[in-house]
Amino acid sequence: MTERITKSMAKNIYYGGGAFALLIFFALTFDTVNQIPHRSNQQDMTASVVAGKKIWEDNNCVGCHTIIGEGAYYAPELMNVFQRRGGSDEVAFKDYMQGWMAAQPLDTPHRRKMPQFNLTQEQVDFLSDFLIWTSKVNANEWPPTIEG
Ligand code: HEC
Repeated sequence: MTERITKSMAKNIYYGGGAFALLIFFALTFDTVNQIPHRSNQQDMTASVVAGKKIWEDNNCVGCHTIIGEGAYYAPELMNVFQRRGGSDEVAFKDYMQGWMAAQPLDTPHRRKMPQFNLTQEQVDFLSDFLIWTSKVNANEWPPTIEG
């Protein structure tokens, strides 16, 4: 006797497989939604962080930089610039940011340039707060190296 899939077997595989895939889909969605509050660092989202995010958007920093891997690949990833240039010290990082933003564009030969944005010191502090906050989002140890 030759073995073959009957119509009803095919139907069972179709509905059973579909239901199983949906079940996994809903379970993973539920798990993701549950994990977000523990990983997003939302409890530390101060007004200053929000103001920094707005400046980040208004000046299209993401048009050259990536943040948590999203954005353009022209300039360094900035999710971990707090660790990279500030050694995870908030005062040192804010000093560094004031210096860096004021010094642009650097006239270093054979290096890509960053524009001068003419931001106030307060605006740069907001940006620093936004970048410090972002560095504490749990992104599964992204980016993989300290140089971004
Ligand atoms: C036109 C592209 C461009 C835009 C827009 C831009 N940057 Fe940059 N940025 C660069 C480049 C290129 C570098 C690297 C320069 C170098 O290393 O000499 C850089 C470097 C940096 C660094 C230092 C990173 C490091 O690891 O040393 C910081 C901080 C920074 N940018 C912040 C910002 C912020 C904040 C904004 C938005 C207000 C912004 N950038 C917008 C091109 C850009």
